[in-house]
Amino acid sequence: MHFSSAHEASRLQLNPQGRLRHFLTTEGLSREQLTEILDTAEGFIDPVSGVIRNSPLLAGRTVMNLFFEASTRTRTTFEVAAKRLGADVLNIDISKSSTSKGETLRDMLWNLQAMTADIFVVRHGDSGAPHFIASQVTPKVAVINAGDGRHAHPTQAMLDMLTIRRHAGAFENLSVAIIGDIRHSRVARSEIHALQTLGAKEIRVIAPRTLLPRDFDNLGIKVFERMEEGLADVDVAIALRIQNERMESALLPGADEFYTLYGLTREKLKYAKPDAIVMHPGPINRGVEIESEVADGPQSVILHQVNYGIAVRMAVLSLAMQGQMDGR
Ligand code: CP
Repeated sequence: MHFSSAHEASRLQLNPQGRLRHFLTTEGLSREQLTEILDTAEGFIDPVSGVIRNSPLLAGRTVMNLFFEASTRTRTTFEVAAKRLGADVLNIDISKSSTSKGETLRDMLWNLQAMTADIFVVRHGDSGAPHFIASQVTPKVAVINAGDGRHAHPTQAMLDMLTIRRHAGAFENLSVAIIGDIRHSRVARSEIHALQTLGAKEIRVIAPRTLLPRDFDNLGIKVFERMEEGLADVDVAIALRIQNERMESALLPGADEFYTLYGLTREKLKYAKPDAIVMHPGPINRGVEIESEVADGPQSVILHQVNYGIAVRMAVLSLAMQGQMDGR
């Protein structure tokens, strides 16, 4: 299976008018394009009650969730978002699909398209899989990346950007620290591209060298190996999930030592600004990358992130459908 490069993905996701037509990566999108996603999401949130409003923008459309990897937050909030937009939603059970009998991904897609799919929401363990799918679908179908391998998780990044904008303010005033396994994190990659494009004052990562990506020097980020220095006076602290499978590799010292050095505890959070917000994309390993009292504490906006995921996914689904129709 051939998966396209990040550059190709960035080009593939825009229609001839330069509007979003698939959503595959935050990389390569302009500040205006990212801001349009945030503003559209904001428009679905009632300014007084904070309740996310319904809208019939996808009435009569069919959204198919294709999750080749486990998910709680992303799959469910995509389903809620599509239903709030009036779409019919099908969650395809991949383990029971005919791919288990040897059918190729391409044949599966073409069959699902024949059942009048309008949008595929795709999570896949292989980096580039949603781009491959976007290159195979008919011009009538839009593809949304719900997380691919170590590459990108663009809707997570955008719900994180909405959370930051709502709870910490304008990006140009903010120092943002991302803590933990940057190297294997699709969330961190998508967040870094979005924060750079949206003009964050300062982007920091705090991690042992073994958990930094190899191409890191090109990303223009400040690197810290000690939490005390990396967290000093930041406005936003984002803890990443430590993938348990990495604990047994040579990359990490072990859960206890990682927690001692890089766990976001109440003690370490004191180095950040007093009103700094704490974020985590989930799922959380309590006592590994974050202390329970911090995850559940007054500075945590973790459950707000989940809630804004509905509005951001409503925005992305509706913008991609509009871009797909305009581009025909
Ligand atoms: N943050 C995130 O992608 O969570 P899920 O794996 O539960 O979708």
